[in-house]
Amino acid sequence: MINDSTHQLPARATDEPVVARPRLTVIGTGYLGATHAVCMAAVGYEVLGVDVDPNKIAKLAAGEVPFFEPGLGELLRDTLATGRLSFTTDFAEAAEFGDVHFICVGTPQKKGSQAADVSYVHAATEALAKGLRRKALIVGKSTVPIGTAAQLRDMVHAVAPAGTAVELAWNPEFLREGYAVADTLQPDRLVFGTESRWATEQLKAAFTPVLERGTPLVECDLSTAELVKVAANSFLATKISYINAMAEVCEATGADVNLLSRALSYDERIGGRFLKPGLGFGGGCLPKDIRAFAARAEELGVGQAVSFLHQVDAINGRRRTRTVDLVRELAGGSLQGVKVAALGAAFKPNSDDIRDAPALDVARMLHEEGADVRVYDPEAMDNARRAYPDLTYAGSLPEAVAGADVVVLLTEWAQFRDADPEMMGWLVGRRKVVDGRHALDADAYRAAGWEYRALGRPTTSRTVELATSEADSIDLGIQVDLAAELLQAAPAASVQPA
Ligand SMILES: NC(=O)c1ccc[n+]([C@@H]2O[C@H](COP(=O)([O-])OP(=O)(O)OC[C@H]3O[C@@H](n4cnc5c(N)ncnc54)[C@H](O)[C@@H]3O)[C@@H](O)[C@H]2O)c1
Repeated sequence: MINDSTHQLPARATDEPVVARPRLTVIGTGYLGATHAVCMAAVGYEVLGVDVDPNKIAKLAAGEVPFFEPGLGELLRDTLATGRLSFTTDFAEAAEFGDVHFICVGTPQKKGSQAADVSYVHAATEALAKGLRRKALIVGKSTVPIGTAAQLRDMVHAVAPAGTAVELAWNPEFLREGYAVADTLQPDRLVFGTESRWATEQLKAAFTPVLERGTPLVECDLSTAELVKVAANSFLATKISYINAMAEVCEATGADVNLLSRALSYDERIGGRFLKPGLGFGGGCLPKDIRAFAARAEELGVGQAVSFLHQVDAINGRRRTRTVDLVRELAGGSLQGVKVAALGAAFKPNSDDIRDAPALDVARMLHEEGADVRVYDPEAMDNARRAYPDLTYAGSLPEAVAGADVVVLLTEWAQFRDADPEMMGWLVGRRKVVDGRHALDADAYRAAGWEYRALGRPTTSRTVELATSEADSIDLGIQVDLAAELLQAAPAASVQPA
C-alpha cells in the first residue's frame, strides 16, 4: 500500500479493535452511492444501500440501475446474486446492520444562492445517527463545504444513542460518470480525513481490496479531506476555462485554438488533459462545486483567494452563448424558423446526466430565439424530455438531422463522432455544421461539402488531432473486465462481520 501521510492522530481511550471486514451501508443511492454500493459488494463486503426514494430502491433491488452507467447494470445483477448486496428505505435497519456507513446523498446548489445545499447530508446523517447504539464509523463521501464534517460530527455525538463512540470521517469521491466502476475499483487515490487512529484503521478495513491494488492513500484531517475535492474540481474547471479563454482570443485574432492546445499539450509542465477547447463543462459536480467553493471561501474571509473561480464560471457560460452565435451565423443571421439538429443532451458522453448540461442549455437558447430545434441523445432522452418538455425530440440520429439547416454537435458521443459526413449530407437540408466539441473530422466534413465551424477556429481550419489520454477513453469493456476480475477474487459466500 502506498501511503504518503504524515498525519498524526490520537489513539482514543475509547478505541476498540477494528472490524476486519466491516458491514457497509451506503446512504443515498444515486450516481455515486449506487456505484459505491455495487462495487463494494463486488469486492466482497456485505452492503446495504439506503435511499429515501422507494422507486429507486425497488429498481436497484430488482437489478435495474435507475441511470445510465456503462458496466454497472451487469455488476449490480452479479452482486445481487452473491447475496452480499441488498437495499432498503429503513434507516433503523441500516443503523443496526452497518459498521461503516457511507453518506452519498446529493449536495446541489441552493436555490437563489451560489452555496451548496447540505440539508440532505444533515438529514441523512441525523436519521442514521439516531439509530446507532454501538460503535460505528460514519464516512461522508458527498462533496461539501469545508467545515460541514465538523458540524456533522457534533450533531452525531448529540443524537446517537452511542454518543461519542460513533466517529465521523470524510472520504471524498472523485469518480467520473461514464467511468464510475473503474474509478471506484481502481481510483487514482483515496483520501481519508479522520480524527482518530481507530477511524483510519476502520476505513482501511473498508477499502482493503482497493488499497491492495496499490492505490495511493492520503491520510489527513477532516477539513483537508473536504478541501481536496473542491480544490481538484476547481483546478480541472480552471484548466478547461483557460483553454476556452484562449479560444476567445483566437476568435479575435484568427489563430487556431486546436493548434494552440496541441502545442501546449507537448509541454510536460502543462499536459494535454482537460485542455480541450469547446462548449465547456457542466454536470452535477464542476459548476456547482466551484460556485459553492467560492461562496464558502467568502464566508471564511478568503473569498479573494478564489475570486478567479467567478471568471472560470463566466468563461464557461460564454461558450454556450457563443455556440448559439455560431449557429446563427451559419444560418445567415437569424434563427427564426431555422431547422437545427442538436446532437447531444447529456453533459458528457457515456452518461444520461443532464444536470447543468451545456448541450440542453444551447438547445434551449436556440429554441427561445425561434429555431425549430430537434434534439437527439443516445441515452439522455427521458431525462431531457422531463426537464425540457418544450423542446422537440427525435428518435434517432438520422431523424434528428433529416432536413436540418444546421447541425450542431453538443455532446461528443462516439455515434456522432463516427457518423459518415457523406451519408449525413444526404439527409440534411443544408450541409452546415457547428462542432461544439471539436470532435468531428473537419477535413472529412469539408471534403463532403459541408460548411464546418468550431469555436476558436478560423473558417478554413484543418483537422487537428487533440492530445488524448488513455485514462480519458477507457474502453468500456475494460470496466466490465475489471469488475469481473474483482468479483471473482472476492469471497464466494456471504461474510459475517469479524
Ligand atoms: N455524480 C458524480 O459523478 C459524483 C462524483 C463525485 C462526487 N459526487 C458528489 O456525490 C454526492 C451525490 O451525487 P450524485 O451525483 O450521486 O447525486 P444523485 O442526485 O444522483 O443522488 C443522490 C441520492 O441521495 C438520495 N437522498 C436524498 N436525501 C436523502 C436522505 N435524506 N437519505 C437518503 N438518501 C437521500 C436521493 O434520493 C438520491 O438517490 C454529491 O455531493 C456530489 O457532488 C458526485
